[in-house]
Parts: sequence; structure tokens; C-alpha cells
Amino acid sequence: MSLTADPTATAPDLASLDALCGADAALRELVRSVARRQPNSLRLSHRAHRAATSLPANLPFSPPVLPICCEWAQGARLRDIDGNEYIDCHLSYSAAILGHNPPPVVAAVRQKLAGGVGAGYFSAEQVELTELVAELVPGADRVGLFHTGGEAIAASVRLARAATGRQLIAKFEGSYHGSHEVGLYNSAGLPEAVGTGPVTGFAPRPSGSGLRLLSDAELLVLPFDHEAALTLITRHAADLAGVLVDPVPRYRTHAPAAAREFLAALRAVTAEHGIPLIFDEVITGFRLALGGAQEALSITADMACFGKLTSGLGIPLTAVAGRADLLDTARTDGLLADAAAGKTWLSSTNQANHLAVVAALAQLRHLRDNYPEIVDRISGHHAVLRERLADFARRSGIPVHLRGNPRHVTVLALGAPLPDTAGYHDWVRELSSPELARALQLLSLHLRLRGVYTPGMPTMNLSAAHTEADIDHIVAAISDSLLVMAEQNLVPHGHRHKEQP
Ligand SMILES: Cc1ncc(COP(=O)(O)O)c(C=O)c1O
Repeated sequence: MSLTADPTATAPDLASLDALCGADAALRELVRSVARRQPNSLRLSHRAHRAATSLPANLPFSPPVLPICCEWAQGARLRDIDGNEYIDCHLSYSAAILGHNPPPVVAAVRQKLAGGVGAGYFSAEQVELTELVAELVPGADRVGLFHTGGEAIAASVRLARAATGRQLIAKFEGSYHGSHEVGLYNSAGLPEAVGTGPVTGFAPRPSGSGLRLLSDAELLVLPFDHEAALTLITRHAADLAGVLVDPVPRYRTHAPAAAREFLAALRAVTAEHGIPLIFDEVITGFRLALGGAQEALSITADMACFGKLTSGLGIPLTAVAGRADLLDTARTDGLLADAAAGKTWLSSTNQANHLAVVAALAQLRHLRDNYPEIVDRISGHHAVLRERLADFARRSGIPVHLRGNPRHVTVLALGAPLPDTAGYHDWVRELSSPELARALQLLSLHLRLRGVYTPGMPTMNLSAAHTEADIDHIVAAISDSLLVMAEQNLVPHGHRHKEQP
């Protein structure tokens, strides 16, 4: 019998969940409460593990893994198969800025659903979408369409290598750019020691097993917002095919413009040496500004990669936009001629499939036509939540705060705020505190019991679909949870302010 066809699989019993919590009584009690509330979700997650479908994109939790199995979503609401309803603060990794199933996007897809073409056809909507992306994105002469952020980044890397005839790609320590070698190398884990002397670059190091081994002739790893990066680029200029950078790394979401000067210097040094500069705008695109980080920071890269475009609907579409001479290395003149000319191959069967293009076009048009109102609404929610948490922190002495900005990933943080100039090392140091990690995990589970869904960290991503009442509910859930945790002495020492009068 195949494992997937085993509907009799049972949820892990409470004793085995207890075992996963070890000696942690507070976690055990909370895990039990969550487990009682969502038995069907747990049963399905058990089956998912047996059928090996339990990949991180679906089950992004710290152990014990207690995912909710989702049945329905609309706007900022989510319901699991046990009938529990949540205000969603995950929002498809922050991508669903219009909420789940945004009506204008759903309407456009519905209209095409029964009459559109499948994979492998050319349509008017592809042209309209690429023209719209080119209109919105600075420096976008050409636009290529893909389906994952990682695929778009890998395409830009190949285009840069093809155009320059070089191999070496520079990226920044701690940056994730998707599920491929350049994306995953040096993207996670404890940082290399910077040491006290001049930074000489970090050795390429795979994050996880199974990756092809990259030599230092293929990958140069740089420190972000650090003079040494510019020196290293100059030193390796003759070999560099491209420099890939996330303009607002995960540890800088609270200060998205803090590295502007560095990024301008990066632009200058890459331009001076004729090295393509690639912005990873998978998160910042069409959000930090309508034209992404390039517009927000007034810096034009040579290529920019966009992703998470219509993830609120779960129909993926991503893009590479940039200079004509770079993207034209993949431009087709017909397959036979391309092969003879040695063109860059960037194609897949489902590329620019009709429904994904229709959804992305509807989403982008809606953003273009309503951007100020959408941003005002999300920023307003963010500001209210930030102020009310600050007020709670002042009164309770519990240093909870919102980290992030309304147009990027936002998390709930405990302890001292990260400085605007925080680096990857500061962030990893904070994340590697077991007390803090545990407190954040407990907080996530407490929030779940109070009808607020957020995976492990906990994220606090807000959308235009959230309401003022949702924000009230979220504030009450966070305050309640933290007061219970503080009473049990579970807000870690060193992460609490002194009591205020
Ligand atoms: C900055 C950044 N770049 C690239 C990616 C990869 O995108 P995808 O998961 O669509 O491949 C991600 C995914 O979270 C990301 O955050």
C-alpha cells in the first residue's frame, strides 16, 4: 500500500509530542493545548511526513512541528480543517499584500479559466505584462518571465555570465536567493568570523547538503555594507561576471534605506569595471516602491529580479527586468538559429503560462492604479500596531516591538531593537540565543490559541485586507500572551526592560 493512501494514519499521540518537548514543561503544556485544538491538522501532518511531502515551504515550523492544515482563506482570514479561524499574519511569506484571493485578481483568472490556453503559447497578456513591468521598473528595457524567485535569479546569473564571458559571481554573506547553488551558498548558519584585520572575503560554503561544490573561481562572498566589499570587487574585477545583492537584507528590514550609500558605491564600482549589478527584488519589488528598491533608493541596477508577485492567489509568476544587451543574450530568433548562434537558454515548458500571466497582470494593474491607498492602509495598520505595542512595552516592561517595515517582512521581536546598521552577524547572534528562540516559539503558539496565525519567528505581516478590528485583536492577543509568559517567567532574562513606573 502506498504511504499516501493511508487515511488511517493517526496524529502523533500526546505522549510522543511530550517527548519532543523534553524537559520544557511550559512548551509541553502549550503544545498539548494546540494539539487538542487541531487534531485533524496533526493527523494530516503525520501523513505528510510519511509521504515525504513535508518540505519546508509547507511546514515552516520549529520542532515539534505543529502546522495547521489550511482549508480556506480570504482576505486576512484563514481557516484550518479543524474549523479554527485565524487572522493571518504570515500572508504567504508577506507576499499577499492584498490579502488572500484578492477580488480583482480572482475575477481576471476566473474569466480566463475555462477558455485560456495552456503551456507553450504566446498571448497578448504576456506582452501587456512585460510592458507594464518595463513601465514600472527603472532601467527595464526587457523583461523575462519565470515562476520562482530562485529561477529568476538563476536566469539573471546565467545572463550575466553569457554577456560578460566570465564565471565569477559575487554575493553577500547571509543572503538567500533561492534554491540553487548561488542562492544557497553562504546563506544561513553561523557567520564566518570577520576577525580584527581587514576582511579578505569568505570562503564559499554550501548551506545544506547535496549542492554542487563551488570553487572560489565561481563564487566570491562579500560582507554587506562594508568598505571591504568594494575593495574585493575591484581586486576581482577582471573575473567578475556579476554582483548579486539583496538591497534590503533580512537583518535590515527595519531600516531599508540605511545601506543606500553603500549600494550607491556598489553601483559606482560595478559600473566603473563593467560588471553587471543584479538586484534581488524578490521581496522589495512593487512594494518598497512601485518600482521596487531601485526606485525607493534611486539606484538603477543592470538587472532586477522580481518574485512573490501573485502569491496571494498561489499562482506563481516572477520576472527578470533589465538592460537590453544583457537580456538579449537569451532572445530567440527561432530555436534552430539560437542553437547555431550559441544563445543563452532560458526556457521551461510552463514558462509564462497563461493563467499565471493573467493573474500577475491583474495584480500589477491593481497595484499601479491604487498604490498610494494600498500603501497608506498597510502603513496605517503597521503604525498603529507599532505604537500600541510600544505602549504595552512601556506599561508592562516587556520589550516587545515590531521589527520591519510595512512593505517588507515584519516580525515580532523581544529585547533591544537592532540598530539601523545591524549586520548579518548581529542578527545571527540574536537568533542563536536559545532562550529568545524558545520565547518566540512559545509566543507563536500562544498567538495561535488566541486566533492569530504566525509561523515560528513570529512574523507580523499585514495586508490591505486587514481591518482596524483585526489590529485590535492582534494587539490583545500579543499582550495577553506575553503577560501569561511573563507571569511564568518565560520572557527571557536579558530580554526584559526594567519595570517602568
Ligand atoms: C530575497 C529572496 N530572494 C529569492 C528568494 C527565492 O524565491 P522563491 O522561493 O520564489 O524561489 C526568496 C524567497 O524567499 C527571497 O526571500
